[in-house]
Amino acid sequence: MTIHVKNNIHWVGQRDWEVQDFHGTEYKMTKGTSYNSYLIREEKTVLIDTVDHRFSHQFLLNLEMEIDLNEIDFVVVNHAEEDHSGALSALMEKIPGTPIYCTEAAIDSIVGHHHHPEWNFNTVKTGDTIDIGNGKQLIFIEAPMLHWPDSMMTYLTGDAVLFSNDAFGQHYCDEHLFNDEVDQNELMDQCLRYYSNILTPFSHLVTAKIKEVLSFNVPVDMIATSHGIVWRDNPTQIVHQYLEWADNYQEDRITIFYDSMSNNTRMMADAIAQGIHDVDPKVAVKVFNVSKHDKNEILANVFRSKGLFVGSSTMNNVMMPKVAGMLEEITGLRFKGKKAAAFGSYGWNGGAVDRIHARLTDAGFETALSLKTKWRPDGKAMRECREHGRQIARLWAVSDTGLAKAATDSGQSEPVPATPAVSELLPQEKHQTAQEKHQTAQEKHPDDCQCMICTVCNWVYYPDIGEPNQGVEPGTAWSDVPDYFLCPECNLGKDVFADHNKSSEEAA
Ligand code: FEO
Repeated sequence: MTIHVKNNIHWVGQRDWEVQDFHGTEYKMTKGTSYNSYLIREEKTVLIDTVDHRFSHQFLLNLEMEIDLNEIDFVVVNHAEEDHSGALSALMEKIPGTPIYCTEAAIDSIVGHHHHPEWNFNTVKTGDTIDIGNGKQLIFIEAPMLHWPDSMMTYLTGDAVLFSNDAFGQHYCDEHLFNDEVDQNELMDQCLRYYSNILTPFSHLVTAKIKEVLSFNVPVDMIATSHGIVWRDNPTQIVHQYLEWADNYQEDRITIFYDSMSNNTRMMADAIAQGIHDVDPKVAVKVFNVSKHDKNEILANVFRSKGLFVGSSTMNNVMMPKVAGMLEEITGLRFKGKKAAAFGSYGWNGGAVDRIHARLTDAGFETALSLKTKWRPDGKAMRECREHGRQIARLWAVSDTGLAKAATDSGQSEPVPATPAVSELLPQEKHQTAQEKHQTAQEKHPDDCQCMICTVCNWVYYPDIGEPNQGVEPGTAWSDVPDYFLCPECNLGKDVFADHNKSSEEAA
């Protein structure tokens, strides 16, 4: 089956209604997905991307009903990940020698996956063009880290269609192809889920790439993604939405997540949520048990929130493993401009809460006072939890307007105490975050530094600071940084780093 997209462009992709997992089991797909491949037939015939390798046979069967494969002049691979280039082996077996256009980084990955270095690869860079006849050209735009280092987009002049690959897509399956034909709430939910769980760490690259594309000042009539729908009705709405999401996005929302051995930490979570609602009825409060709720839904809520509470019972003097896993995910997603607080019930000692607090601080959250309760909360402890929720809600309130007077448990209102100063709610010894340490080092940057700069995202490795999140102690020279090190901003390895001073001189 093919679907007409515009003029001589047809969708020749594959729907996948039943898939549930992406990236192993890290991303749960609640609405299936599609692998969008496009056939352009001008004087030249071009195939843009293929489909997931599990559908190679079906893909070729479908394509051969539409066209003699030998008519394909070349294939554009916008992204080497298997959900888009997976059917290449089967395709190239039928049309060996057909040129493949992709980025240099994609060749490494395609050969690594398919083991065919003899394929006819042609490397393209941003701004390179190919004439496909009838007055139309393809223009290539590299888009590293959206979603892999090899990613690129392809723009078709004349028709003004941007083939954006992963960017602006969503894991969403529908028999309709265009954005104006599907349920808008479902669509935007899946766009946000995709952005928050996959693209958040690369937000600064998203902003830079969108600005670069906008600077070309070319019309965009459609954005043809490689997952989900094609944006044809007001296509730039998703571009503006991405710019908003990439700018330290938050709503008036607080997320509470926890795990609980004996229901005690859960009782605390409920009381804290009630306390928040007591004083700030307008704020959205969402509560999740990490052992029972969909992890990606929780992360999407964290993305939308101005602040979060993280709770855990103490087990073997550490936090419960599912909470630790979530904190690891949150650290990797590198949220910015959000607040957080730890809480939990304990029996013999409360090590979990202290560890959560430290992890949240290291992950760049502005942390408030933690709360611990010994054993099962009694009435007094529940009142303290509720009051804790009220205090933090006041501290995190978007504005004083609309804050309700605190209600007592008897239902009578009581005077709202003055909002405590931030310093009263912070631990006595203020912990300097990794980001703050990084900033300080940047300010003191010496001319004869031994720093290394990531050539993809410009993150700088300062030997004085190291990268403790990856076990690289302060004072570690670059040569001693282990090979498994990844840039904390864009997740690329040591080989994309260059000497900072040399790089600055070259730029000058
Ligand atoms: Fe849809 Fe990065 O693969």
